[in-house]
Order: sequence, then structure tokens, then C-alpha cells
Amino acid sequence: MTVHFKQDKPDTRNLLDRGSQDIIGKALSRPEGLAKVTGTAPYAAEYHAEDTLTGVLVTAPFTKGTITGIDKKQALEMDGVVAVIDDMRMTVRPAQGGAGESPEQQPSHIDYFGQPFALVVATSFEKATHAAKHLPFSHEADDVDDIPLDPEDMETEEGDGNVRAGDLAHAMATAPHTVDLTYVTHGHASAAMEPHAALAEWDGERLIVHASLQMPNFNISELSDALDLPEDKIRIVSRYVGGGFGSKLGLSEEVTAAALAAMELKRPVRVVMSRQQVFQTIMRRSESKQRVRLAADGEGRLIGFGHEARVSNLPDEEFAEPVLQSSVFLYGGENRLMELEVGRIHQMTAGSVRAPGEAIGMPVLEAAMDCLAEEVGIDPVELRLRNIPEKDPSKGLPFTEHELADCLTKGAEAFGWEKGPRKPRQRREGEWWIGTGMASAARVHNVSEAKARVTLNGDGTARVQSDMTDIGTGTYAILTQIAGEMLGLAPENVLVELGDTDFPRGPGSGGSWGAASIGSAVVIACQSIREQLADRAGIGEDQLDLRDGSLRDGSNRTLQDLLDGEPLSIEGHYEPGDISDDYTASSFGAFFAQVRVNRHTGETRVERMLGAFGFGRVLNAQTARSQCIGGMVWCIGSALTESLLFDPVDGHLANCDLAEYHVPVHRDVPDLEVMMLERNDPAASAVQAKGVGELGMCGGAGAIANAIYNACGARMFEFPMTPDKVLEAMPD
Ligand code: MOS
Repeated sequence: MTVHFKQDKPDTRNLLDRGSQDIIGKALSRPEGLAKVTGTAPYAAEYHAEDTLTGVLVTAPFTKGTITGIDKKQALEMDGVVAVIDDMRMTVRPAQGGAGESPEQQPSHIDYFGQPFALVVATSFEKATHAAKHLPFSHEADDVDDIPLDPEDMETEEGDGNVRAGDLAHAMATAPHTVDLTYVTHGHASAAMEPHAALAEWDGERLIVHASLQMPNFNISELSDALDLPEDKIRIVSRYVGGGFGSKLGLSEEVTAAALAAMELKRPVRVVMSRQQVFQTIMRRSESKQRVRLAADGEGRLIGFGHEARVSNLPDEEFAEPVLQSSVFLYGGENRLMELEVGRIHQMTAGSVRAPGEAIGMPVLEAAMDCLAEEVGIDPVELRLRNIPEKDPSKGLPFTEHELADCLTKGAEAFGWEKGPRKPRQRREGEWWIGTGMASAARVHNVSEAKARVTLNGDGTARVQSDMTDIGTGTYAILTQIAGEMLGLAPENVLVELGDTDFPRGPGSGGSWGAASIGSAVVIACQSIREQLADRAGIGEDQLDLRDGSLRDGSNRTLQDLLDGEPLSIEGHYEPGDISDDYTASSFGAFFAQVRVNRHTGETRVERMLGAFGFGRVLNAQTARSQCIGGMVWCIGSALTESLLFDPVDGHLANCDLAEYHVPVHRDVPDLEVMMLERNDPAASAVQAKGVGELGMCGGAGAIANAIYNACGARMFEFPMTPDKVLEAMPD
């Protein structure tokens, strides 16, 4: 039986408050945590299949052109080589999140340096690697002078979602206070700890692929389209995913390559990308150039707000990093101009990388706001507070719960923010300048269609099943808590099974919508089970008080008594309704950072950082906090070190491993303080939660930039702010 709930209005039933188990929102450790840390949780490449062959992808050592021939005969003479796959159905770009159809397939046509064009299959990883390295092939490369490689030279087209209202130019010309600033941000890599991997098995009837994917619910359609094989002949299993950050939203090359090889050879084939291949072929976050214009009255209230951005992608890709996504509703100002344009460039596909849009749009906006606060001569926190709009200024819609003011004031208090106008270079200890900075956080909230099956077994334990994934975000724990809370079961009596397309379709992990969407499907299934249990107990559902598998009405009845040995199984189906036409929904926050900057070397060290966040109901205090912390670590990386560096001559990525692409390591990260300002949001989802996964990195790099200025007086307009740039910008 299926229960369907389409959310057209706020859900004020407060379903999650009906239980008595008292585990929802608590800091429950991951049920799968022990298996993960002891190495017994099988990741995609670790599944065992008899007679498995290994495939290694061969990638183009040039940027644009055509593969004109592969000498397969010679390749097959190499030790251990079983096949060379260059089937035209092999995908050569990763699909964008939620695509549901095959990404580009045309391995002979090369569009970026590092694009896969063949798979060498051999009896061992070493032999396949050797043969892939020495695969004889011929190609015709385009003249590099004819290929757009530099973002400054690209041809551009208009992107989506542009906003134009009033007359920004007039506001800029007449307002008492203005700033007009242009910033550059560099590309980012996802580089999840688990590289992209797939193990495909084909028995002539059905294809089973163990893969590391965020959205099997869409990936199955993408694979079906790529292979021209019906979905009912495909099963994707992604039980554990070692991080995704957007890089595993869509189907990528290792999956189709492994599948094609397994189908051709009728033996299991495993393909794992090397770290370098992950960097070179998996999607990047686009670099950006952003102009921010702010015009304010004498009190710092915005009358004009412009944010224009240029990003890039490969020819024919629809995705454009949505840099302005939160700018459109974050602050007021009646004269508005928000324009996004995308240029065509031959670097690997640009796509969703954690918090696509806000991750680079918010730090730039918040750095510009800091300049405006200085210009107006008021406290930067006060400047934000004065500009929080009553309604979404671009759409005219009311907001669902709006936590920004709370996050700003409570965060400032907890951090010990000194109120008032600020001056740089006020505090020095030896060779270190010390300063503080702040920024707002915002990340749009979305929900996605989701299905989950909840079964209350005859023995009084429960099972939750969906093809939803847990990419390290805590889905297993959260769904254990929701089912346990609703059905009155201790966590150890709830089994959650995820990441298998033989289960009902979940929403996938992406866009921070995972927990709210799949949680809503589980809560409505559980609610239906509660109603049936209450019926059997001869009471109203609102009187049903369950804890640890028993009714707490003095009757000593247990769930087993009510079930009489028979399981109760319900599929919950949650669907986003028209509510998005009525409200603008976003998670909010505020960052506060203290840095020290070396006056001789320009080195910046983040000394402490606090994030105050509001994202509706907190489903699990521990996993939510961990998401915030992870986001804040990326704020440090994007503020100070992270940058994809392309060779200007031939366009190849020069830093394609974690030794050369600098992420913050333990020594770079101080204790990060996270405050969660919980406020249930009935318009956000049936569990009254909003997205939290990406929020923690939406603006924090701006707080660090502002702290650098406050410390040493270096105003910079390029992220990351590496020591060379700090030194150049620092006053003598
Ligand atoms: Mo996210 S970038 O939608 O995994």
C-alpha cells in the first residue's frame, strides 16, 4: 500500500512531535559507523565477483580534436590484455545532477584534456594500467591557438534567472554611499575521498552495477539511455558512498565503461578512476568573474543592488554555476540587476560542486558588503540586519522561516563580536596582524520527490528501504531516528537499507534536499502505520503512545501483540507541490572568523571560526553539526588555498592530485564552533527541516577575507587569497 502526500501548503501536523521515543534531533551516532571505520562496509570497488577483470580508462593527452584510430591488434598482444573498449555508447562527460538521460557519448571526439576515449581491460590492475599507458592510437589535434582556453577570451551567452528592476545606474549615480567592485574566483575540484568506481556484472539478462553514485534514482535512467537497455534490466547498488560533493550526482564515465565491457566480455569488470583521472575528467566548479554594485542611503539601507557574474562551461553544456542564486532574495534594494552569463571554454565539464552558486557568489557578495559597511561607517553586522527584506524582493513572495537576523545577532554575541564601525590594523602580536570578519550565509532550500518503504515486522522491529544514498551526510542515522521516533522503537531495532534501485525511488543526495525529502517519505509512511496500529488498539492515533516497542497506556500491550505476527508495510510517497509558488525557502546563517596574518610572509592562519545556522528542524544534532563543520573547512580552503590551475599553453590541469591542489589539512583548521538555531519550518517539508548539507560553505570564505582586511589592511578581489596576493595588497 502506498500513501501519497503532495505538499501544497505548510504541514502543521508536527508529525515528528507525536512520538515518545525521544531520539529525533538527538546526536545519534551513525549506525553504519563501526562498519565504516573497521573497513568492513563494502564500497563500490570492494564487492567481490568471481573472474573479475580490471578496466583502466585511457584519456586524451590533448585538448581538442579527434581520435582517428586505435591499434587494438597490437594492444591485445600486450601482457594480460583482454579487450579494448571504444564503443560509441561510452560516455565522455559526467551527467549533470538529475539529468535522467545519457551524457555525451562520442569517445572519438575530444573536447577537453583528460577526456576518456577508451577502456583497456586486462587480467590485473597493473597489466591494464601498463597497457592503457602504452595504448597505440592516432589522433588529429586542433591547433591550440584556435581553442578558447583563457576565460578572458571566451564568447559568452546569457544564463537563466536574471533579475532586472528599477534603474541601478541611476541609484549608483545618486546614492550617498556606493561600492562597485569586481572579483575573480578560481575553479574548485570535489575530489571525494572515494574515487569514482564501478563493478559491473552481466548475466545476459540483467546488468548489476555496484557504483559510487549520489542519485541512483536518476542514474538508472541515465545508464538505461546510455546503453539503450531498459531500466528493468538494470540494478544499481550504491550502499556506501565515500563522499560526492556533486561529483557523483550524474552518471560518469567509469560506469558506462565498466557496463559495456562486462556486457561484451560476459565477465565482471571493475573500473576505478585514479586520483588524477578524477581531477581531470570529473566536473569542476567554474571559475567566475563577478561585479557587485551596491548603492546605499545614509543609514546603509540598500537602494541599489547589482550582482553580475560570468562563468564557463564546455560547448553544449546547459549548466552554468548559479552564482546569483541567493543574491536575488538575500538583501533589499529596489533597483536591482542580477545577470549571469556563461562562456564556452575547453576545460573539463563544469557542474555542481558542493553549494553550486552560493559557494562562490556569497563570499564575493559578503566581501563587497564589508566594503560598503566601511564606506557607510557602520558595523558590518548592523549593515546586514538593516537590509533583511520583509519579502523576497525579486519575486515578492513571503519567506518560510527566516533565521538570518537570529543567526547574525546570536552568532555575534557568542563570538564576542565588537560592535561598531571598524578600522583595520588595530592589533598586532610580534610579526602577526590579528583581525576579525563576518559574513552572512544563505543557501536555497529545495525538496525533491521521494519514496520509501517502511515495514514494521511481526517481531516488532522495523525496516526502511529506499534507493536513497548516504554520501557521508548521515541518512542512515536520520532515517533510523525518524522511524524509531514515530514507531516507538530504539535505534537498534530499526534497520535502514539504502542505495539499491530495487528499492523504492528516493530523491538522491544532492542540493541539500536529501534528508528533508526522504525524511518526509518515511514520516508519512510511519504515520500511516501509526494509524493502523491505533485502529487495532482501539484508540485514536493521537492517543497512541509508543516507546521501546510497547504501548504506554498501562495495558502492557506490545507492538507484537498488535501485529499478531503479521508485518505491516507501507510505501511513503512525498511530492513537492505548489508551495514553491507561494514561498521563498532558504536556510540561513552567519559566519564569524578571527585570523592572524604574517606581516613578512603574507601567510594567513584562521584562529577561530564560528557559524550560527538556521535550517528548520534539526533531525540529528551530530550529523547536522558535522555537515556545518565540513562546509566551514571548505570555506577555509576556498578563502586561502583551493584553485584549479590550468596550463595556459595547452589547457591541461596542472594540479591534479591532493598534493598540488591544496585543501586545508588538520593543522590548518582550528576548533570550529557551530550553533544551530532550531526553528521548525512547516512550509519546508513534512519533517519541517530545511537543507543543511551545503549551507556551511555559503559565505564563510568572505568572513575570512574580511578578517584578513581587518587584521592587516589587505583588500583583495581574488579568491583564494594566497600569501603572494596578501603581501602585494598589504600596506607597508
Ligand atoms: Mo550537491 S553539489 O547537489 O552534491
